Order: sequence, then structure tokens, then C-alpha cells
Amino acid sequence: MAQTDAAQTTRRLGVLIGGSGLVGGTIVNYFKSRTTAPIDILAPSSKKLSIREPADIKSYLTTVKPDFIINTAIANIDSDSQMSYEINYSGPINLAMTAAELNIPYIHLSSAATLKTGQNIDETQTREFSHKMSNYAKTKLMTEKTLEYLHKKAGLDYSCIRLSVVYGNHDHKIQGFHRMLFSIADESMPFLFTSKGVHHSYSNCRKLPYFIHHMIDNRQEFSGQTYNFADRLHVNLPDLILTIKSYLQLRRPYEIYVPYQMANIGKRCTSALLRVMRNFGLKANLPPELIFIRNFYTTQTLNTDKLQGSSFEDPMPNETVYTRMPDMVIYYLTRWSQQNLITTYDEEIRSDGTFEQDFKHRPEILLEQMHKSISAGTSNTEIK
Ligand SMILES: NC(=O)c1ccc[n+]([C@@H]2O[C@H](COP(=O)([O-])OP(=O)(O)OC[C@H]3O[C@@H](n4cnc5c(N)ncnc54)[C@H](OP(=O)(O)O)[C@@H]3O)[C@@H](O)[C@H]2O)c1
Repeated sequence: MAQTDAAQTTRRLGVLIGGSGLVGGTIVNYFKSRTTAPIDILAPSSKKLSIREPADIKSYLTTVKPDFIINTAIANIDSDSQMSYEINYSGPINLAMTAAELNIPYIHLSSAATLKTGQNIDETQTREFSHKMSNYAKTKLMTEKTLEYLHKKAGLDYSCIRLSVVYGNHDHKIQGFHRMLFSIADESMPFLFTSKGVHHSYSNCRKLPYFIHHMIDNRQEFSGQTYNFADRLHVNLPDLILTIKSYLQLRRPYEIYVPYQMANIGKRCTSALLRVMRNFGLKANLPPELIFIRNFYTTQTLNTDKLQGSSFEDPMPNETVYTRMPDMVIYYLTRWSQQNLITTYDEEIRSDGTFEQDFKHRPEILLEQMHKSISAGTSNTEIK
């Protein structure tokens, strides 16, 4: 790693917003158990500190007096304009203004949704505002622009990291890439809802905390800067879907490409059906993969030259969404089948099934094991 701004020997305290999320959770885990650097991290839940409440932000941060702030919070992807505005725009800006007042760095997580589509898109190629933009993309772009403004006008020390399609463990909401993995594993994707040749960039969640840590230690280089944070590999979407399918040894999705117009008609019909269902008091929203169906048909790959040219050294240079696949498949399929979300999962991939068999047919064995371990004074109640 490159030389840091100062020898960081004094203990530092960071505040992270959004710690229960995929990205925030991974960053908290890194600071708590992966790095040996003297850094403590506080991750208040949205119930304790909602960034929709400006007064709460101010009082929390002025009381805690952190050395840096990381913001990974976002509103649900299908939130209305008010909620999106408050969580994705005014909340982050209030955090940033407090950071400027306290004279501490503010690290903001943003998205490639603020960038144009196409190949090799660099940090400068942001979208123009338009009424067609989703609430998510619009509010993320507004935040990026105001952070830049605050940097110039109020001396805010900030860094902005744009993520593309994020992959990693612990996505409890099953969004983005993991929603696609879910649809394939659940065999609810009968055909390929994409076109040949569609490519996307992917961001490895495991690597991100190393970059953030490096940015915090090197403010001179990273202050006021925005980076595309993505793997160098540009992923061919149909190939990725078919690789997952063959890895899981499934028959579907069949290698039939559904044209965008047809997929869009399907989306509109589903939307209409859900409107009817809501009249009967049923709560039903359009699934995110349908809201963003256009993305499956549009190439967007990010240029990462700025990241490669920085002093950050990739801790896992050979890792890609393909190399992480076996681990992610085991993690998510075990989790989803334990939650009874999928039933098509071949049990051979997970444990030997002893626990499931005992729990179903012989619970007294489990009782006996528990009682024995209590008598022996051990607390080892793990499932074998
Ligand atoms: N995941 C992706 O594929 C992807 C792709 C591109 C960019 N990104 C960016 O990465 C960042 C993190 O995304 P993610 O996927 O980790 O999101 P996520 O899993 O949906 O987590 C969102 C987090 O925001 C918190 N939050 C929501 N409302 C809040 C409020 N009012 N006050 C404080 N916290 C609040 C949530 O807390 P509660 O659970 O307590 O509500 C949760 O911890 C975002 O900036 C996103 O734009 C993600």
C-alpha cells in the first residue's frame, strides 16, 4: 500500500450510515474484524438515526464527534419521490454539511445509475436530468452535484464512490444481482430477458472496504474526487446467466432471447394486474427486476482507469463475479432454502442433510444433544 497522509497510530472513530444493508454491512464487518488498524466503527440503525431527520443527524454527530462518516443508506428502489428525495438527497447533504462543519471526511456511496449507458463510461460522463429518470437515479445524481458544490463552496472534504452491479454475501433484501441469482435458482426465469452482447460492470463488495480505508488514510489524493469502483472484467450478461444455470445444473432458463418489446409488454400487463389486485386490498408491487427491465437490455460498462491509476492496490486482483460464484451460490442457496424461499435447490450442494432429517423425524436426538452440551458446560449448539 502507498504511504499514508500521516502515520495513523491514534485510534479513530467512524460513523457508518446504512449498516444493515449489503454494502454497509460489509464495510462494518471489515472495520470490526478484517483490519487490524486502530479504527472503531459505529453503525446506528435507521431507527436510532434516520437521515430523514436533520436535527437528529446534527445532534448525533456533534455528540459522537467521529473522525469520518461513510454513508451507504438508500431508500427502497421503488420509493416515491418524497422518500427518495429525503433519504437519497437531503439526508446525505445534511450529513455532508455536518461533516464540513466538523471538518471531517465524508465518504459517499453512489451508483452507476448517474452515468450514461454505453461502453467504457468514465467518471465525467454523467447523465442529463430528465423526467424519465427513476427517482433513484435522479436523487443520486442530485447528491453528486451538491457534494461537488459543497466541496468548492464550503471546503467539504468528501469522496464519492460509484458502484455498478454489486455482488457479495449478506444481501438480506435480495436486490440487484442477487435477485437475478434468486430468479435463476428458483427457476422463475424461463427464458433470457436480455439480448446477446449486453455487457455490464460488476463491483465486488468484499474489496470496497479496502478502498474506503485507503481513501480515509489518504485524504490529499482522494478529497473532492469521484471514482468508478468496478472490476476490470466487463461481464457478458447472457453468459453469466447461463454459467449460473449450468453451475446449478438447472434446465431453465432456456437459451431463448425474449425481445425487449415483448418483455416490456409483460411488464405493463403485470403492472395492470397488480393495480387490479390493489383494489381488493392486496399489497403488491412490481418486482424490481421488472421496474428496471430496460437495464437487462442495455450495455453499461465503466472505465476504471482512474481507480487503476490511483495509489490503491487491489487486494484481490483476480477475483471476479465468476470466481466468487461457488461461494455465493452456497451462501445464498443455503440461506434461501432455510427461509423456505426456494424449493428447487438440490440438497446435495449444501450439508449432508442430517440436521434436516433429525429435525423432521427425530427431534428428540437434537434435544438430547442440547441437554448433553448443557450438562457438559459447553455452549456448542451448532448444527452439525
Ligand atoms: N446493491 C447494489 O447493487 C448497488 C449498486 C449500485 C450502487 N449501490 C449503492 O450502494 C449503497 C448501498 O446500497 P445497498 O445495496 O447496501 O442498500 P441496501 O441493502 O438497500 O441498504 C440500505 C441501507 O439504508 C438504510 N436506510 C434506509 N433509510 C434510512 C434512513 N432514513 N436513515 C438511515 N438509514 C437508512 C437501511 O437501513 P434499514 O434497513 O434500517 O432501513 C439500510 O441499512 C447505496 O448508495 C446504493 O446507491 C448499490
